[in-house]
Amino acid sequence: MATLTELCHSHTKLDSDQVSHLQNLTAIWGLLADLSFADLLLYGMDSSHSENTLVLLGHIRPTTGTTIYRADMIGQTFESRQRPLITDCFNEEKDIDGLIQAGPDRENSVRAIPVRLGDQVIAVLARERVHSTDKASSVLERTYRRVFHRFVEMIERGEFPYREEERLRHRTPRVGDGLLLVDDQGLIEFASPNAVSALHRLGMHRAAVGSRLEETNLGSAMLRQAFARRTAVIEEATHGTEVVVVSHCLPMLDKRSATGAIVLLRDVTDLRRRDRELVSKDTTIREVHHRVKNNLQTISSLLRLQSRRLKTEEARAAVEESVRRISAISVVHETLAQSAEDDAEFTEIVRLLVRLVEETVSLPERPLRFSVEGEGGTLPSQVTTTLAVVVTELLQNAVDHGYAQPNLSSKETSGNVIIQIDRRPEGLNIQVIDDGIGLPEGFEIEKAQGLGLTIVRTFIEGELGGSLTLKPVNKASGAIAEVQVPASRLLGPWDDAQEPEV
Ligand SMILES: Nc1ncnc2c1ncn2[C@@H]1O[C@H](COP(=O)(O)OP(=O)(O)OP(=O)(O)O)[C@@H](O)[C@H]1O
Ligand SMILES: [Mg+2]
Repeated sequence: MATLTELCHSHTKLDSDQVSHLQNLTAIWGLLADLSFADLLLYGMDSSHSENTLVLLGHIRPTTGTTIYRADMIGQTFESRQRPLITDCFNEEKDIDGLIQAGPDRENSVRAIPVRLGDQVIAVLARERVHSTDKASSVLERTYRRVFHRFVEMIERGEFPYREEERLRHRTPRVGDGLLLVDDQGLIEFASPNAVSALHRLGMHRAAVGSRLEETNLGSAMLRQAFARRTAVIEEATHGTEVVVVSHCLPMLDKRSATGAIVLLRDVTDLRRRDRELVSKDTTIREVHHRVKNNLQTISSLLRLQSRRLKTEEARAAVEESVRRISAISVVHETLAQSAEDDAEFTEIVRLLVRLVEETVSLPERPLRFSVEGEGGTLPSQVTTTLAVVVTELLQNAVDHGYAQPNLSSKETSGNVIIQIDRRPEGLNIQVIDDGIGLPEGFEIEKAQGLGLTIVRTFIEGELGGSLTLKPVNKASGAIAEVQVPASRLLGPWDDAQEPEV
């Protein structure tokens, strides 16, 4: 659907000042629709068509009544005979009231209001509702309609929307929030039930009507400011440690002098409490992350201490390997804790893991180059953690078994390890390719006894439902370890998980 600005540009000759006036109007007109209990439609003169064609620039439905238009008509154009009252209003530049036959037994009451800016009518605002002869209405209804008419007069004089809009820090008010009507002296003439409740919450227990606005805790400067600046003023009032009420004060003007105001009160206590709870949850999560990281570090240092006391080389190596595995988990953990969401870019994590392995093998007699290729996208944190351990094991194997043979000359111990990551529709594919001495004669992955590949297979086959293969590189030395994880396991718990078709 086209926006108001787009429609103005494509259909009308309105300049940017005029368009922004209409934008200001539609930013606040929900309130007017509520006050009039009717649909509001904004028509512009369509200059791209023949004379007297109208274009519907906007439409808003009331929250206080039923709409007469279910369909969305924004952007439609109308010939003048289809909308005679609107056309007359444009031509005569004055307010026109009338009835329109809307069906065999239904008439709509239409009021066409010229929207003026400077001395020009730039659009027509139509208030449309089902015509009813039923005169019975409540005080609230009558008051709201009267307030609506006062705003209508301001629109016709070009005094509303206000030229200087206080930019919407808050959602635009609707009358359901609670409405106070005050006169030019600040005396409250009317208070809607929700407004009375909001005032109670602010600690005011005597009757609102007849009191002065200054006596309500709502901020005494608000009304004075609104009258002086001839624009809406937004204030926040608090009571005790909890209650927060946001009030919008809209002055009513007649040729630049203030005749009264409406104040819309919105109790945002619950919203604020929820905000605070979210913030504190967020800090708790951060704190937990921090502790997990510290705990992992403590475990690593304990193991390192222990390995120093061990006498046998084999035992020491085993413990050091555990330290390495824990480091891999910590790297992932830290990255996940830092990223705003739960998911982190997988390739980034692999780069960090590579650096970790590089640090442990950066001996001058073993110059190895690692490169990471492809994109893995983001993965759920659990999958990332599992794959991080897997990738670390495969990298370590390439280093340990591909290049670490003492009987090799130094020339042959330099090498390249490539990590290829490929996100395909059927899943994630990771290959760790080395150009080392290759797999031992008669190697069978099923029979491999090492802890490394056992961990990898348990994680990949058991936890992720994927597969692992280890094979020689064609016509060259080296080994390729390939891991495949099906797409169905790469979805987070909140993704629109769809089981793949069998
Ligand atoms: N990239 C590789 N190049 C050559 N041989 C490999 C490679 N990866 C694995 N292997 C072979 O597979 C065997 C099993 O590996 P695995 O990771 O399970 O155990 P490990 O590395 O010997 O011990 P650890 O438990 O410390 O990882 C290795 O001993 C090695 O012979
Ligand atoms: Mg290993």
